[in-house]
Amino acid sequence: MSKDYLEAAIEIAREAGKILREEFARPAQISYKGDVDLVTQADKRSEETIVARLAEYFPEHAVAAEEGSGHDEAGSEYRWHVDPLDGTTNFAHGYPCFAVSIALAQRGVLLAAVVYNPFYDELFAAARGAGATRNGQPISVAKTSALANSLLCTGFPVHKRLANPNIHYYWDFTLRSHGVRRDGSAALDLACVACGRFDGFWEFGLKPWDTAAGVLLVEEAGGRVSDFSGQPYQLGGPMILATNGSIHEEMRGVALEISQRDPAEPLRR
Ligand code: IPD
Ligand code: CA
Ligand code: CA
Repeated sequence: MSKDYLEAAIEIAREAGKILREEFARPAQISYKGDVDLVTQADKRSEETIVARLAEYFPEHAVAAEEGSGHDEAGSEYRWHVDPLDGTTNFAHGYPCFAVSIALAQRGVLLAAVVYNPFYDELFAAARGAGATRNGQPISVAKTSALANSLLCTGFPVHKRLANPNIHYYWDFTLRSHGVRRDGSAALDLACVACGRFDGFWEFGLKPWDTAAGVLLVEEAGGRVSDFSGQPYQLGGPMILATNGSIHEEMRGVALEISQRDPAEPLRR
């Protein structure tokens, strides 16, 4: 019988996290995928381990992994979304805000998710219908009901930076909330919404491996995830809005106002 999905994801995330801890202790060997799109030995070693262990446990499943070592399995309805190191820029600069992110989807429906920050040994996990946890304890989103009292988070891409309108959203949301953090790991940003540290998060242009695990964490912790028009968020969609639920419509309203001035009119829909 195949291993329990979440149990396997947790075990594999811890194994990859051990590699990241080892690599973090020595000077990063950086190469570049784009102008400021970094990749390190740590990304590669972590991904190698995760992909190999998933293939061992679930040989019939497809794996989509950021550094390209995943594989398609013809006809498989199961797909793992793997970011072996989310927060590479932080990692390369010695800022300990980075994570392993692993999620499983069945025909696009997320079933299991893990986001693990090995530096702080903080592991977030969720299984569809079973809630979300932080180091084994149940978590839930914050109860903040007004944007004005909220702490938010966002991120900026490492490619096509000039085409990204987010600086305008950053400006507006900063002036209308307690502040907007820019922590450099979308997976941890979403995990922080799930456990109530942040009330809301948005970003443009994220990839499925950045968001898959975090989305299930937020939903299972009682939050809401959509695009700016309120439609269900699709993995790899042009933007994501994830909140505690209570401030969702207010954040959408602000995004709408900004789009009426045009900041790239939510990427032309
Ligand atoms: C990045 C991080 C960052 C986000 C970028 C992502 P990476 O992922 O999640 O927070 O703002 O858009 O590309 O490259 O560190 O795996
Ligand atoms: Ca990432
Ligand atoms: Ca990455």
